[in-house]
This record gives sequence, C-alpha cells and structure tokens, in this order.
Amino acid sequence: MKNDPLRPEFWKAYAKERDGAQEGRFSSPEFWDKIAEGYDDLEQSPFYREMVEEILSTMRQRGALAPQARVLDVCCGPGNYALRFAPLVKEVVGIDISPKMLAKFREKARQKGLQNVKILLQDWYTFEAQETFHTVFVSMTPVLHDLDSIDRLLALAREFLVLVHWAGVRKNLLYARIWKEIFGREWKWGRPGIIVPFNYLYTLGYAGDLRFFTGYWERRRPLEKELDHLLWRASHEGIQVDKEAREKIKQLLQAEAVDGQVYSRTKVRIGFLLVHIPQRAQPT
Ligand SMILES: C[S@@+](CC[C@H](N)C(=O)[O-])C[C@H]1O[C@@H](n2cnc3c(N)ncnc32)[C@H](O)[C@@H]1O
Repeated sequence: MKNDPLRPEFWKAYAKERDGAQEGRFSSPEFWDKIAEGYDDLEQSPFYREMVEEILSTMRQRGALAPQARVLDVCCGPGNYALRFAPLVKEVVGIDISPKMLAKFREKARQKGLQNVKILLQDWYTFEAQETFHTVFVSMTPVLHDLDSIDRLLALAREFLVLVHWAGVRKNLLYARIWKEIFGREWKWGRPGIIVPFNYLYTLGYAGDLRFFTGYWERRRPLEKELDHLLWRASHEGIQVDKEAREKIKQLLQAEAVDGQVYSRTKVRIGFLLVHIPQRAQPT
C-alpha cells in the first residue's frame, strides 16, 4: 500500500522521506524574527497584491469568509492575510511563533482600529486549540511540509481548509548569480510544495480546488537590508558566509544598486488550495 499514490500512506511516507530531516529546523522564533521587519516589502509588488486579492475574493465567493465566520490563520506572520480577512468575518485568530512578526501584526491591527483580531504567540507544534473554526487558513510556512500538520489542521476546520504554498518555481536571477559566483553552487528550488498536501488530501477524499499564480515578486530595498535578507536565505540552506564572502556579496550588490537601493525580482509560482470539508467524498 505504501507504493500506491492513491493511498494516504504513500504521501505520508514520501513527505517524511523528503522533508523529515528538516522537521523543526525552520521553527525557531529567532529565525523568523530576522525577516519580520522587511516582510511587508512584498506588498510593493503588484503581482503579490493581486494574488492576495484574488485569493480573498474566491474565499468570499465560496463562503470561506462570511460575516458569521471565525477564521484561524496558522503561522499568520505580520498579518498580510488576517488583516484583510478581519473586516469580512466575525473574528480572526492568528497564531505565530515569531514575536517580531506578531508585533508588526498587532501594530497594524491597532492602526486600522480592528477589534475582532486575536493574536497568539504560539508554536504550532505545541498549540492546543480549544475549539474548531469555520475556516482554517495557512500560507507559505514550513509547517505545510509536514502531513501530520495537515491532519491536525483538518481536525480544526469545520467548513474550509485553505492552503497557500510554493508550487515549484522560485527563481531570483540576482541570487542565482551570487549563489554561483560566491557560494559555488547552483540556486535550485527543488521542493514539491503544495502538490504534496493536495495529493494527500485527495487520497483522503478531499478533492480541493487548486489554482496556480505565476508572476514576479519585485522589491526595491536599501543595500544593507537586501544583504541581510540574502544572508538569511543562505542560512536557510545551511550556507556559512565568512567575512570575505560577505564583502564580495556587498560589492556585487553595490554594483547593482541605484541610489543605494537594490532591485530584486523573483519568479514564483504559488498554489492556492481550497478544500470544502463537507464535500468529502469516499476516500480512493
Ligand atoms: C513566510 S512567513 C508567512 C506568513 C504569512 N502566513 C503569509 O503568508 O504572509 C512564515 C511564518 O511561519 C511562522 N512559523 C514557522 N514555524 C512556525 C511554528 N512552528 N509555529 C508557528 N509559526 C511558525 C513564522 O514565524 C513566519 O511568520
């Protein structure tokens, strides 16, 4: 049965083999705190904003966001989605492990005068929800690599489970050049992303609607900020950057910078999966 892709055990075994060694590696608050300040730079990118609006509009049309709905946003970060959900629903509960991400979220909720947002500093792996939610939403977090998490998310969702995750394309030419010239390795993004939870849920009988968004994330950041982000990404891949390499990267970024700002563009494909729980068919 473990060799049959129409069985959930197949995907559980695949995910364990593929990402098992990474488990917990990206679950430290310090790791995420480091990018909290610049995380919203994403909002500069028209493609990102349009994608988020499209996701919101589909969730609204399908009933995942509705005036009486309570929504759980797992690994909510600085609230890019949760802040947009709040005016459309009864309550949004956001949980995240990073105090700095949540501080940004709290501040923005305060500025917008939102009263129906509950923000909890929690590690998903130890989070014990006391209730279920109309909609459970999870976007762009390593938690989604782990299919035991999908079981737990399903158990918390009464009507909808909505996942947003990488879908095989993440290419930044500037970073690819630095990876090659300075770290002596190819930039490659080999993670299967959303297709693993999609297939797992499918084998459980939840054939969700899957849609892809392909485009460019564009950011213009001060050189030092871009350098910090780049070093953070390198640490993500276990690359140690010594002083000499850091200086070389800095010089390369200086050559790219215009008025002290570095423009960087990442080609991405993002998957958006909406599962309506009551439509569960018989498992395959
Ligand atoms: C790339 S950000 C995505 C934020 C937001 N969901 C979005 O799409 O804009 C990943 C988030 O997952 C959070 N995270 C990672 N591991 C976590 C864990 N074990 N428990 C709670 N939050 C976690 C990080 O702190 C970070 O805010």
